[in-house]
Amino acid sequence: MDKRLIFHRPDIAIRLTAALIGDDPLNQSGHSGLFLAAPRRTGKSTFLRSDLIPAIEAAGAIAVYVDLWTDKTRNPADLIAEAVRDKLSSLAGLLGKSSSWLGRVKKASAKAKFSGFEAELGFEIDTVGKPGGATLAKAFEGLRAATGKQIVFIIDEAQHALSTTEGESTLFALKAARDALNLTSDRPGLAILATGSMRSKLSDLVMRKNQAFYGASVAEFPMLGKDFVCHLLRSMLLHRFPEEQLPDADSVMQAFKRLGYRPEELAKAIADAVTRPEADLSAAVEAAAQARYVAIVERLHKQVANFPAIQRSIVHRLAATAVVQGATPTPLFSKESLDWYSRDIGGMKVTAPMVQKAMEALVADEIVWRSSLGGYQLDDELMAEVVFAGGLGTLNQQQSRKAMPSLEPTRRRAFGRPQKRTP
Ligand SMILES: Nc1ncnc2c1ncn2[C@@H]1O[C@H](COP(=O)(O)OP(=O)(O)O)[C@@H](O)[C@H]1O
Ligand SMILES: [Mg+2]
Repeated sequence: MDKRLIFHRPDIAIRLTAALIGDDPLNQSGHSGLFLAAPRRTGKSTFLRSDLIPAIEAAGAIAVYVDLWTDKTRNPADLIAEAVRDKLSSLAGLLGKSSSWLGRVKKASAKAKFSGFEAELGFEIDTVGKPGGATLAKAFEGLRAATGKQIVFIIDEAQHALSTTEGESTLFALKAARDALNLTSDRPGLAILATGSMRSKLSDLVMRKNQAFYGASVAEFPMLGKDFVCHLLRSMLLHRFPEEQLPDADSVMQAFKRLGYRPEELAKAIADAVTRPEADLSAAVEAAAQARYVAIVERLHKQVANFPAIQRSIVHRLAATAVVQGATPTPLFSKESLDWYSRDIGGMKVTAPMVQKAMEALVADEIVWRSSLGGYQLDDELMAEVVFAGGLGTLNQQQSRKAMPSLEPTRRRAFGRPQKRTP
């Protein structure tokens, strides 16, 4: 989105920073790590990049950022190590301006500066995270010692680290680094902030005893609100319409909620509204938002309806687990499940290898997420809700508009347990 349209949330950034670096007596989550969950496309990365990192830097700490979704083909472990190396390299160039060693090598070339910084760090930046090279713990310790600053390591879409064993080991390496740096002082030397698009995936990281960040806190990442809606309306419409014609912010806020708090969708609805027949701008935005909403739900329905039969059955079962509060994960390969798939697709015998094959295809298409622990989940929470609300096994029966689920992240609404049909 156009940078000028970005709505900043400095208050939240300052509060989070205080918690992370140990300035908030009421929230000490910097010590153990803080995990923030919110559905995809609701503005997590934008907030981290445009608000949180500047706030961390303004507070005198160093922010290191990695988004594990930027390149899904790459191993999360590599992405994490690379982010650390990149930060160290950029600091090697920048630090020179203020740090004492520059005095000594005043006219030094950039290269000499670099090696001067490496000498302070006590390792070669290029080797961080590589076999036989500096470990993450060593890298962060060196950085902290060389700069005297606290470090906040931000992992965006952290659950992705669980998809490979190397990624998992990297989380343990980070935990080791955190423990090493946090032992010696009251304020965290290394604070870790992780975000994720699925609460359940993120909880795996902190709720399981065998996980690196067992015991860290998980909180909801705050959605954008009415102040954002006002900002967007004004920035998009004021150059064409007089103030008094701008749509009512409360009603647009309702539309924004319905669109799952996704800024892009709202921006498109506002842009669509301008070309709509409704005379009143408020009504036009509402109608445009409704049209987008229907299109999103229909697209998801269609996508699932086009899956081969067994894949669709698997998606149905995974959807129920994802949406129903407290549901235990469905065994996907049990005899009972195989019978269920078989009934669901109209009687043809379904075997475990068939399910395995269908599952591989779903994972390859990024519909299903498989953790290295062997768990399976639908990748898109919204798809889970749409499929579930569409009725288990009744996906092709189109819904009336009213019965369509809201795209608003419902935080695992208690729909009640599924009927007998779900084993
Ligand atoms: N504060 C904001 N103001 C304006 N647009 C935003 C804001 N936050 C996010 N967006 C837009 O919404 C889209 C999704 O945001 P992103 O930060 O990538 O979400 P997430 O990381 O949660 O998936 C992007 O196009 C982005 O420009
Ligand atoms: Mg993101």
